[in-house]
Amino acid sequence: LDNGLARTPPMGWLAWERFRCNVDCVDDPYNCISEELFMQMADRLAEDGWKELGYNYLNIDDCWMSMDRDEQGNLYANKTRFPNGIKKLADYVHSKGLKLGIYLDFGTHTCGGYPGSIKYLQKDAETIAGWGIDMLKMDGCYANVSDMSWGYPDMEMYMNKTGRPILFSCSWPAYAGGIKVDYSVLAKHCNAWRNYDDIQDSWDSVTHIIDWFGDNQDVLAPVAGPGHWNDPDMLIVGDYSLSYEESKAQMAMWAILAAPLFMSNDLRSISPEARSILMNKEVIRISQDSLGMQGRRVIKGDDKIEVWLREIEYASYGIAFLNRRTDGIPYNYTLTLQDLNFTYGKGYHLDDLFSGQPLGHFELNKNLTVSMVPNGVVLIYAYPSE
Ligand code: DGJ
Repeated sequence: LDNGLARTPPMGWLAWERFRCNVDCVDDPYNCISEELFMQMADRLAEDGWKELGYNYLNIDDCWMSMDRDEQGNLYANKTRFPNGIKKLADYVHSKGLKLGIYLDFGTHTCGGYPGSIKYLQKDAETIAGWGIDMLKMDGCYANVSDMSWGYPDMEMYMNKTGRPILFSCSWPAYAGGIKVDYSVLAKHCNAWRNYDDIQDSWDSVTHIIDWFGDNQDVLAPVAGPGHWNDPDMLIVGDYSLSYEESKAQMAMWAILAAPLFMSNDLRSISPEARSILMNKEVIRISQDSLGMQGRRVIKGDDKIEVWLREIEYASYGIAFLNRRTDGIPYNYTLTLQDLNFTYGKGYHLDDLFSGQPLGHFELNKNLTVSMVPNGVVLIYAYPSE
């Protein structure tokens, strides 16, 4: 969507995976979906260094609404959990130098059973613009997929009419079967779109999504670019399930895939290890590369090693080596840059972005050996030698 937004994959924080539809503020006030939770996360994003690295969207997901619209048909937030309303929350978030995202559903109800927008697209666009919302995720529960081909473009038009730039994330393809959609239409009306299954807090879920993106890359990679991105869903780094190595792997793969980087974790108690992965500037630099080209799986071997490649500016590359083996020991993998069809005659300099170590200069035919632990990744930045 050519609205000036998301020229690189958007970054920030999104409530869903970690906080779900927890509306129990009586027994679980610290974790329930409430203005308190979002204000605390805004504080963390603004004060702990996240914002400076680009993590500037704070996004509400499902279960923020009241169960009904008001007499005029307007949406409003649950009054117990958001006593000051969304506009006040947006003001607070803006005062911290951040942007506020919100969630609607195109159908009759949200997935969580709250009011849907199908009959109120224009009204809801005006409501959220009036509140000062900066991003909208529009989900697709309780809707006919056939209606989405007018509904999502209509919503984009109504938001455009408000005059407020609102980053638009569309869940349409995720409901339409992932590759059975016309992505050129998506790219015209949405800044990002969820293609596939919801991420869950498990390595299985992460690899399931990575596999799907690899298997469908010929459809997906060409449609990504500045202003319009495929979205493999949230980062779960900092949550319960991923090991340190698996966390690096998710971060690396999301960077290679030019994916939006929305963390869904508890920034109030995140571990130093998870923080250092999510804050790795060099990895973020690959993610945020200005060419906006989505990387591809270029090798998927019987040895269960995958090599993924993303072209970035200055004739450089991000290369991810991903170990999918289950034999439980580190695995050494050797190739040459020629094997990856690199062509620059003087060769390349390689840096290992997680160890922070330069690996040196590599002629095209020089053997490069990387060692990956199980479920681990080695992420390399390769740039042409002088
Ligand atoms: C389905 C979406 O894909 C999730 O990301 C989340 O928004 C839930 N719905 C909320 O109900």
